[in-house]
Amino acid sequence: MVGIKERQKVTAMNQALTETTIDPMAFRNALGNFATGVTIVTARDDAGEGSNQYVGTTASSFNSVSLEPPLVLWSIDKRARSLEAYEKAEFFAVNVLAADQVSLSNHFARPQEDKFSGIDYELGLGDAPLLKGCAAQFECETKYQYEGGDHIIIVGEVKRFHTTGRSGLMFHRGKYVVSSFHPCNEQLPDDLGTDAGFVDDYLHYLVGRSFDQLMTKLTSVLHSQGLDENEYRVMASLGGKDGCSLKELMHNSILSEEVVNDKLRGLCAAGLLSREHHGDTTRIKLTDTGRQKLEPLLKVAKTNEAEALGVFTADEAMMFKRYLRRIIAWTE
Ligand SMILES: Cc1cc2nc3c(=O)[nH]c(=O)nc-3n(C[C@H](O)[C@H](O)[C@H](O)COP(=O)(O)O)c2cc1C
Repeated sequence: MVGIKERQKVTAMNQALTETTIDPMAFRNALGNFATGVTIVTARDDAGEGSNQYVGTTASSFNSVSLEPPLVLWSIDKRARSLEAYEKAEFFAVNVLAADQVSLSNHFARPQEDKFSGIDYELGLGDAPLLKGCAAQFECETKYQYEGGDHIIIVGEVKRFHTTGRSGLMFHRGKYVVSSFHPCNEQLPDDLGTDAGFVDDYLHYLVGRSFDQLMTKLTSVLHSQGLDENEYRVMASLGGKDGCSLKELMHNSILSEEVVNDKLRGLCAAGLLSREHHGDTTRIKLTDTGRQKLEPLLKVAKTNEAEALGVFTADEAMMFKRYLRRIIAWTE
């Protein structure tokens, strides 16, 4: 049975809240500046039947309260369908979502029958569902419940917890985000020191230098295959595609019309590319020989990329590429 389970009416505080003229939407947006993790709180619903015998709610209101005793809290909207189940539950579980569990978060944020059908879970203390693939889980005994305006604040004592080392999903300004370490945490070349020159902190230089250094290994492989860098750029731009026009090829290879035409002549003569004429338009394609020549080169390129991105976490690597794509889109 629940230890000390009580609901305190903080009437004065609630009155003060309702008397203010704060616009709820603006208030909500302002609160969104506080980045949080995302959890799915679960419990057994004694009133439910079949797969409805459990409740699960996406919640970002989870927070730590005390280390000794180990207490945590979350708050639930009084309009939630599952409110009564949580009010009565002796135990609940807080499933801290991992960065790749956005669809699970959305699933449990939608009020619906049978939320647990097709969901992978096992049962924890008090039969509260523990979802698979989370960053952490806290199994709690309900200790206190408080009035909190349009929410009920539920405080639980943590009885067991589990962590997986996976990085957590976050919510900030109304959007899902992934975390990455702030550069201040790392003793990397990011720390420029006092005698940093212009180029050390100049984007063009940093991008150009990374490009040159990354290309070094690949270039020696290209030369051993009898290709120069521009020929590779033309061929790689056709990789994974069923051909493209001259204009698209110039755009994707970032080469001028003159250079592309020059490289096309050589690559077509070598049987690596073909030009198909359809009325006014010309389609350039890799031949079977060209595809066979390109395939191992793209593998080398991908291996080099994986080595270079190894300095990042998976989330950082994803964000890094996204930032570069954003710059490309802005400056096009
Ligand atoms: C990122 C995110 C955070 C949320 N945080 C909370 C929360 O802390 N408390 C809450 O009651 N609802 C929260 N919600 C909304 C509930 O998940 C949603 O209303 C859900 O449908 C409630 O389920 P129920 O009606 O089946 O109980 C959140 C939703 C999202 C997407």
